[in-house]
Formats: sequence, C-alpha cells, structure tokens
Amino acid sequence: MPGIVLVGTQWGDEGKGKVTDLIARDFDYVVRFQGGNNAGHTVIHGDRRLALHLIPSGIMYPSITPLIGNGCVIDPRVLIEEMDMLEKDGLSTERLLVSGNAHLIMPYHRALDAESERRLGSNEIGTTKRGIGPAYQDKAARSGIRVQDLLDEHIFRLKVRTALVEKNDLLVKLYGAQPFDADAVCDEYLSYAPRIIPHITESGQLLNEALRLGQWVLFEGAQGTLLDIDHGTYPFVTSSSCTAGGAAIGSGVGPTTISKVLGIAKAYITRVGSGPFPTELSDETGALLGDVGAEFGVTTGRARRCGWYDAVIMRYAAEVNGLTDLCITKLDVLSCLDTIKICVAYEHDGRRYTTVPGSQTAFHYAQPVYEEMPGWRTDITGCRSFEELPRQAQDYIARIEELAGVPASLIAVGPDRSQTIMRGWSTRQGEGAVQGERGL
Ligand code: GDP
Ligand code: IMO
Ligand code: MG
Repeated sequence: MPGIVLVGTQWGDEGKGKVTDLIARDFDYVVRFQGGNNAGHTVIHGDRRLALHLIPSGIMYPSITPLIGNGCVIDPRVLIEEMDMLEKDGLSTERLLVSGNAHLIMPYHRALDAESERRLGSNEIGTTKRGIGPAYQDKAARSGIRVQDLLDEHIFRLKVRTALVEKNDLLVKLYGAQPFDADAVCDEYLSYAPRIIPHITESGQLLNEALRLGQWVLFEGAQGTLLDIDHGTYPFVTSSSCTAGGAAIGSGVGPTTISKVLGIAKAYITRVGSGPFPTELSDETGALLGDVGAEFGVTTGRARRCGWYDAVIMRYAAEVNGLTDLCITKLDVLSCLDTIKICVAYEHDGRRYTTVPGSQTAFHYAQPVYEEMPGWRTDITGCRSFEELPRQAQDYIARIEELAGVPASLIAVGPDRSQTIMRGWSTRQGEGAVQGERGL
C-alpha cells in the first residue's frame, strides 16, 4: 500500500506529466501501464523542460524507479533516443525498468498505421502514426513481438520473418507500398538489444513485492478516458486501456492494491485528431484558448481543438475510473475570458443526457446545454492556496466539484511544478503540502 493511479479524464493532454512529476517524489515507483510514444507528457521545473513520450514522468527524482509496464508498446529506437536525451540533460536512466512482456513497435507497424490512415481518407482517425494501433492489433492476434524476444536472436528472427510474410503482402498488395526486408529489420532491432536488455524486468512480480513491502507505486496513465479502446469515443480512440482498470492489467498488480484514483482534467477541454467533440469552439474563443493555453501536440505538433469544460464527460470519467480525487489544470488559461461556460448536459432527439450517451450517433449530434459563469480576468499564476484565488475562480472549481461528485484536491495555475494549489492532497515529505481530511 498504496498504489495510486493517475488518469486523464478527457481526450488526453490534460497535464498528466506535470501532475505526475509534482506528486512523484513521494513514490518509490512510477509506472507507465499502457500506450507508447503516442503520448507526449510535459514536465517543467525551473529552467528544465522535458517532453517525455515513453519514460515515466517520475524520472526527475533519483529516488524513483521508473518502469514501463507490460501493457505498453515500445518503439526501441524512440526509447533509446529518449534515454540519450535524458542522459545528456544530466538525468540518469540507469534505474529505468522495462517489462519483458511489453510489445515492440516494429517498422512495419508504423508503415501500416500511415497506410491505413491514408486509405481511410476523410474518415481517418487522425492517429499519431507511431504504429500504436497495428502493434496492439498484433498483440491481440498473438503475432506480436515482445521486448523479451530481443534476448533470443533465433526466436526474434523467426518471429519477424513469419510476421513479414503477412505484413509485406498487406503493404504491397493492399496498399501498394514498399515491402520490408526481414534481415534488415532484425539487424536494426538486434543492434538496439544491448541498450535495452539491462533494463528488462518482470514487472508484476517486482511491483507486487514492492507493494507488499509497503512501498508506494504511482501508475501514470497516458491518453485519456475518452480515448480508451472500450470506454472512449470508438472508433476515434487509441488502441489501449487508458482508464484506471488498465493500470492493473498493464502492470501485473491486482486491483485491490489500488487505493486512490486521481483524475486529471483541464479547466476547459482539448482534442487532437478526429472524432466527435460536443463542446468544441470553432470560433475566436476557441482560437484564444488555443493561443493562451499553447495548445499544440507534444508528439505531432498538431493544433489541438479547444472547447468548453464538459461536466458530462467528467461525470462519466468519474464512474469509469472510480475517481477519488480530481486535479484541475490550466485554470490560469481561463483568466483571459469575461465569461466561462460549463456544459452540464447534452440534448439530442428530444432526450436530455447527463452522462455520455451509449449511442455513437447521439454523442455525435449531442447539443451541449451550458451554464454561464463570470470570469475573473486576473492573473492567478502566483496563487498557492484556494483562498488566494478570486471568488469567481473558487466558484468555478466548486461547480466542477459539485457536478463531478469528486473533490478537486489539486489545482494547477501554471506549467511549472511549483504553480499548483495543494488542497487536501497530502504528500509524505513534500514541502508546501497541506494535510487535509482528504489526504492520503
Ligand atoms: P499530458 O499529455 O497530459 O502530460 O499533457 P501535455 O504535456 O501534452 O500538455 C499539457 C500542457 O499544458 C503542457 O504544455 C504543460 O506544460 C502545460 N500545463 C500543465 N499544467 C498547466 C497549468 O496549470 N497551466 C498552464 N498554463 N499550463 C499547464
Ligand atoms: P497524452 O498521453 C492526445 C490520439 C490521436 C488520435 C487517437 C489515436 O499526451 O495525453 P494513436 O496514435 O494512439 O493510434 O491515435 O488518439 N492520441 C492522443 N491525443 N494526447 C495523447 O497522449 C494521445 N495519444 C493518442 O491524436 O486521435
Ligand atoms: Mg500530451
């Protein structure tokens, strides 16, 4: 005890990297349990700014063991680049552990991702083209190649050769693309092996033992609830389980080891890629939020679509994830507005919805029902307690809490680690932390 899960409650980019980095100092392990380098997590502390795709955001602390769990898909070239980037920045990656059961993203996965998006044309998902979907497809089809396969050259070559018989057919005959040479792929990947092998571990055994010994484990989600393969806005989703349940599956611990689930939500909402977005603002307010919030993807550089905070989505995320706590991020961005809207329900076809509709069509055509609240028009980036926030900002947070039925234990008012209001989120040794009745 305790295992704590941190998840995105919207469509990703909620500020998970910042919050993980902020609370990580109290943990012994920080674990990524799903996704791959489709994620882009930003960590800022003073002059230091890191954009992490695969390595858990706890890497800044030498006392933490970062672990990439079995539920992840790993592009080894990207992993090595990220390790090199961190080492160059003076951050040791020696402690990094990688589950031998995690799957490898192969070059043909990246090619298939791009080709399949091209074939979909205007119906594209808008993926990051990092090969995520095809790698998870192979995992489910039982034809994937795992990190531990790097330990046995014979097996590795056999698996790649077998996979390429089918993949090359698809690439050449279906998509009219170039085939891959099995030996060249194997040679490239086996050249990465010496860098990866020292980090390989059996994540489940290790984490269960750590939890038994009373160590603290933070499970850092990637993407967000509405990008979850089961619970998201399918088919405009990613291919993994981004919700809290995924933490158990993607790392090998039992669900009873998890004592808290912290949901991260922006004070407004953004989405990258295609798919329905009821509160999207295609006007100057949306453009203003994008500008002030610097809403550009960390992975692909694409402009993020912006919209009003959606309490219907949050209510759904609170249930699907079993949220115990909320962290509202980017509250400072709303300082640029005179009035702020919150979506409290949807209407479609004469029906009112207070949670995400089960029908894809209803969600697609959902008309948001808004409540309007006054803005505060003051710089709040220096506030470090709830009481220091302007009354209107306090009311906005209180309304979010009321609609979600979950307390906002943390409020972020700027990108830096220090720009956070700790409100009932207690830490073991953290300076500035407030021990409240909702504390750990
Ligand atoms: P993640 O994928 O959930 O980790 O989020 P990203 O890193 O992709 O995007 C969040 C962006 O917002 C990053 O640029 C962060 O530095 C920034 N950020 C996080 N929290 C805050 C905040 O409270 N205020 C502001 N202005 N920026 C923030
Ligand atoms: P973080 O962890 C925002 C989106 C893509 C696309 C869909 C499927 O930084 O919050 P994929 O490449 O995963 O098959 O693309 O999912 N997507 C994200 N959007 N933040 C992310 O990660 C995302 N990871 C994937 O834009 O719509
Ligand atoms: Mg991101």
